[in-house]
Amino acid sequence: MQFEFQNPTRLIFAAGALARLGEVVRRHGKRALLVTGGGSVKRSGVFARAVVSLNAAGVTVIECSGVEPNPRLSTVLRGAELARREGCDVVIALGGGSTMDAAKVMAAAVYYEGDPWDMIAHGQDRQRLPTRALPVVTVPTLAATGSEMNCGAVITNEQTTEKSFVMAECLYPVAAVVDPELTVSVPADQTAYGICDLITHVTEGYFNGVDGTPVQDRFAEGVVATALEWGPKAVADGNDLEARAQIQWASVVALNGWVQIGTDAPFPVHMIEHVLSAHHDVAHGAGLAVVNPAWMRYAAESRPERFAQFAHRVFGVPAKWSDPAGCAQEGIASFESFLRSIGCPTRLSELRIGDALLARYAQETVRIAHDDQRRLPGRPALSEAEIVNLLR
Ligand code: NZQ
Ligand code: ZN
Repeated sequence: MQFEFQNPTRLIFAAGALARLGEVVRRHGKRALLVTGGGSVKRSGVFARAVVSLNAAGVTVIECSGVEPNPRLSTVLRGAELARREGCDVVIALGGGSTMDAAKVMAAAVYYEGDPWDMIAHGQDRQRLPTRALPVVTVPTLAATGSEMNCGAVITNEQTTEKSFVMAECLYPVAAVVDPELTVSVPADQTAYGICDLITHVTEGYFNGVDGTPVQDRFAEGVVATALEWGPKAVADGNDLEARAQIQWASVVALNGWVQIGTDAPFPVHMIEHVLSAHHDVAHGAGLAVVNPAWMRYAAESRPERFAQFAHRVFGVPAKWSDPAGCAQEGIASFESFLRSIGCPTRLSELRIGDALLARYAQETVRIAHDDQRRLPGRPALSEAEIVNLLR
């Protein structure tokens, strides 16, 4: 294990923190592109409160609304053009992961020379990472992706039906204003998908990372155990602010780099899901709920002890060291039941995805992973045929 770590995002975490948005943004600029999604922040009144705080601090707001779930390249280009035309000096993302990702790439596209898709096309020869971006302040309204405090963004090129990602230093937000009160309006299904997403962020590191990471193991187990305890409460009662806060903190830490530190893990479950949500109108967390247990069943065959440890420590499955494979499968079954209990789908048919195109999806997954061996990196590395099998 070896690593170098820096996360420069200032994190402000508190119920009511939205009132401080203006003061936080004013440190970085005074003409803000305020990026939002399809309207939830207007309906909840959060948008109006954000504008009041910004104006009180002397920040002028240029509105850029309409970022769609699984955000599109054309939306990013529209926002970047608006920011350039209006002379914005700071970008604010007020919304879910889609809004935050789009805002980050808008901020970089303002300076990017050439085709902005080239910064996103992960792993491809054409990829040229951005090196400069307008400062971004994130204000998440949904606990899920962790985008508020990381340097990643996932964008769909609707012309090529390709969903890919970029990770670059300049995309770290300068600040994240995380106010759990903003998530009380998230409907139960999106709340559940967010819980699955945050759990999957840590299981990817746990099961695909290098050996010998006992501290990271305990971090990851703690995040999952917290999600198991508080997730059902947030789903059952959206106004339970304590549950909302615990889930939101779990989602921040699940992908701000800390839990996976030094594990050097690829994210195969995410790579498979991204292709599904590039082709189908599927929420990211819902897609993960289908792919992750299926992937686990497959991967556990080659690493039963690792999965047995998870089953024992997180789901309380009695340790049966004579039968780690059985223990592992019991833990995966518990995980799947948990996902179902909070309302996640766990079968492709529930996402209305048939099996006619699975071979194509597997091929695209491996191509986007850009591995010389034509396998999807992970433990184990998967061939296209194996991806098709696990999806079936
Ligand atoms: O668009 P609006 O009207 O805001 O509605 C959204 C959207 O319909 C709604 N919503 C958000 N906050 C709400 C709310 N509804 C009521 N009240 C609120 N407070 O929820 C719906 C889903 O929003 P979206 O932003 O798409 O969800 P999520 O946060 O799950 O983001 C998913 C996107 O993030 C990417 C995914 O691939 C997907 O494109 N990811 C980004 C990552 C990153 N940057 O680190 C990592 C993740 O693994 C993930 O891949
Ligand atoms: Zn995710």
